[in-house]
Amino acid sequence: MTEHSTTPQDATQPLSDRVENRSQRPDSAAFQQFLASQWAETEPAEVDRAPVADFAAERRRRISDRFPGERLVLPAGPLKVRSNDTDYRFRPHSAFAHLTGLGVDHEPDAVLVLEPVGEGAGDNGGHHEATLYFHPMAGRDSKEFYADAKNGEFWVGPRPTLDELAAAYGLRTRDLGGLEDAVTKNAGPTALGGLRIRLVREVDLNVDALVDTSRINTGVDLESSDALDGELAEALSELRLVKDAHEVGQLREAVRATIAGFTDIVHVLPAAAGHRHRGERMVEGAFFARARTDGNDLGYDTIAACGNNATVLHWIRNTGRVIPGELILVDAGVEADSLYTADITRTLPVNGRYTEVQRRIYQAVLDAADAAFDAAVPGNRFRDVHTAAMEVLARRLESWGLLPVPAEVSLSAEGQHHRRWMPHGTSHHLGLDVHDCAQAKRELYVDGVIEPGMVFTIEPGLYFKAEDLAVPEEYRGIGVRIEDDVLITEDGNVNLSSGLPRTPDEVEAWMTGLWHAREGVDPS
Ligand code: GLY
Ligand code: MN
Ligand code: MN
Repeated sequence: MTEHSTTPQDATQPLSDRVENRSQRPDSAAFQQFLASQWAETEPAEVDRAPVADFAAERRRRISDRFPGERLVLPAGPLKVRSNDTDYRFRPHSAFAHLTGLGVDHEPDAVLVLEPVGEGAGDNGGHHEATLYFHPMAGRDSKEFYADAKNGEFWVGPRPTLDELAAAYGLRTRDLGGLEDAVTKNAGPTALGGLRIRLVREVDLNVDALVDTSRINTGVDLESSDALDGELAEALSELRLVKDAHEVGQLREAVRATIAGFTDIVHVLPAAAGHRHRGERMVEGAFFARARTDGNDLGYDTIAACGNNATVLHWIRNTGRVIPGELILVDAGVEADSLYTADITRTLPVNGRYTEVQRRIYQAVLDAADAAFDAAVPGNRFRDVHTAAMEVLARRLESWGLLPVPAEVSLSAEGQHHRRWMPHGTSHHLGLDVHDCAQAKRELYVDGVIEPGMVFTIEPGLYFKAEDLAVPEEYRGIGVRIEDDVLITEDGNVNLSSGLPRTPDEVEAWMTGLWHAREGVDPS
């Protein structure tokens, strides 16, 4: 046995440096010189202006109108540690993505600063000039090139230069080294002639600390600043309630990829049904492959829930079997490279045929969804969509003899007995976040008037748990949800996910058609 000895040098080495020990990379000037030499010149890349750039400029102008004379600070956020020195794949904060147009891979630690200039003298006729501060790609003559595992080109591949991002996104770009001055200069209490800063908080704790320190040092009241920051978060969320044409295009693309993913799921179902322990994971995996090939990622963890697992609303463990004769509820969404996500649920019969009771429950949910679609029109309120779905479900539950009170009583504010089997909301806004616009005021969200350009889900369900003694045995262990993504138009709505079969007959025909096209595989 070798005895481990701790040299004095080991003991004094900072813990944070020790991660480098394993690389055994030389640190000599000669080595650094050699690494910096003999690289072919990189051709300056021809950078096209990104199609999103003009849309993002218009979004910035609109937020500029809300906060003239104030500095607005929007961090992208840092890489997030998964464990030790391994990070999650980077995904910028949605408000930053919305106002810059920057999607996949862009840009850890970046910060968008909207600097107030004269009224109407800013970008696009607004009151601010926008500058993106980020860490640009270092030259091959730098140590960062080969020694920085988070930023170096040798480790993470090429990253944009300041000029490239400026050309593609129509933003001023500056090195992150200038951020502190840009955020803090001239800041202070407005009563004393200082400039007010508003920050999107809790995205990047380093930026929070920078702003808070500046506020403390200049005597700005922290509590009222918190409220001002909250107003900015609220305004940014509300800015996304109505989607522009670029966003609608991206949502359509996310839905297209998600529908392709559901087709992949039907293909894998026979094999998943043959897996002895974790068929649900095979379903999850098939969808994930599509998300990574057609898009950036999943918009949220896939729910692949067979049988009684479907009665667990956010069943993402996906550890169950896939059993012929049961239903499998799959709630999944591809996040496009632009970071817009779909959110679609289908409840499929594992063997391709609904039983009589499964079909009865499915049809009730479908009828509720159709009623919700009828209510999802301009001029109605967002809450009317939910009310329409609940009306159908309460009456259907009453007709099955499941409600302990008349449907009228259940539908009253004090009743709500039907919610035992449908405890979630029917709709949420959809966009860069699966639950988009979450900081919007209640009066603009759930109490808000539906407007053309809004995109939200319609997702009623019924969930009868295996242990639910309030329902007859034949209902127990069945969960059904049908979720579609709806775009509000001038005179009604469009179901963006209508390309995915919804009615029981369509679902059965679609599944068996896909299986027969693949040499007649049948999992039953
Ligand atoms: N998948 C989460 C939701 O449907 O809201
Ligand atoms: Mn949803
Ligand atoms: Mn969903």
